[in-house]
Amino acid sequence: MIVTTAQLFKHAYGKYAVGAYNINNAEQAMGLFRGAIESQAPFIIQISKGARAYTDKRMLEAIIRSAGDIFPEAIFAVHLDHGDEQTCYECIDSGFFSSVMIDASHDPFDKNVEISKRVVDRAHAKGISVEAELGMLGGVEEDIKVEDGHATLTNPAEAQEFVKRTGCDSLACAIGTSHGAFKFKGKQSLHFDVLEKIKHLMPGYPLVMHGSSSVPQDEVARINAAGGTIAGSMGVDVNEYLPAAKLGVTKINIDTDGRLVWTRVHREFFRDKPSEFDFRPPGKIFIAEYAKFIASRNKLLGSAGQL
Ligand code: G3H
Ligand code: 13P
Ligand code: NA
Ligand code: ZN
Repeated sequence: MIVTTAQLFKHAYGKYAVGAYNINNAEQAMGLFRGAIESQAPFIIQISKGARAYTDKRMLEAIIRSAGDIFPEAIFAVHLDHGDEQTCYECIDSGFFSSVMIDASHDPFDKNVEISKRVVDRAHAKGISVEAELGMLGGVEEDIKVEDGHATLTNPAEAQEFVKRTGCDSLACAIGTSHGAFKFKGKQSLHFDVLEKIKHLMPGYPLVMHGSSSVPQDEVARINAAGGTIAGSMGVDVNEYLPAAKLGVTKINIDTDGRLVWTRVHREFFRDKPSEFDFRPPGKIFIAEYAKFIASRNKLLGSAGQL
């Protein structure tokens, strides 16, 4: 059943984080729903602009609606990931989304406020909640690349002002993570000091952590042993998910790790069966492995067993 993002956040705040998983196709949807049911966890499906363009946004919506029918016990929200203003309006008007993210974090503060506030006003008129972003993560997302030196952590006082001026329902904060498989060069750690300060200023207010994949090194090793050449990868320490959740991080975004599962499964499959060309056998393995991965993440996030 599709529920509001607000409902999920209300139940989770301060206790656990809801996993927000990106999907692009039917195999990911099947794995996600199976893993969520197996671990008895509520979850958020998020759809990026790129996912809406891959096949077709109507196809993706149909897949998600069907998955909801196939798994009637699933409790989930549907969220637009990293929207621009126009895409937010499309999703708000579609009647399908529980929440949208307006990402104007690359604009100057006042412009970010202005754009985010417009989206909040349109969304709230339809009972849809809005995630906005303040601060800049490093790494690559969609067509935007932020060089390491230009990534900026969220300023807690600015975060408070931003939320007050925009009325956004949750805030994506930059606390040291980045999108993709290469998150840290030296020390691997979140900036808990920033979270503590924000929680002190805005107790009860839900925060979002982007770039939360853990980039399992055994997964990367298996990919490389099967012909991949991924070097220098590093992700978030999974033992930091729950401490972050206790400090108000209520939504934890994971996409890259799922791509690694896909890549490992398919590289190993075709390495071991070089004469095979039916995509369904590896697809089946992927669905099972992705379900296992989702269940394992929900346990780490504390969302497992919360249904
Ligand atoms: O923020 C990035 C998410 O992982 C979505 O990635 O824009 O390539 O679909 P994407
Ligand atoms: P990862 O690249 O760490 O999976 O982050 C995903 C994300 O933040 C989607 O918005
Ligand atoms: Na951003
Ligand atoms: Zn993101």
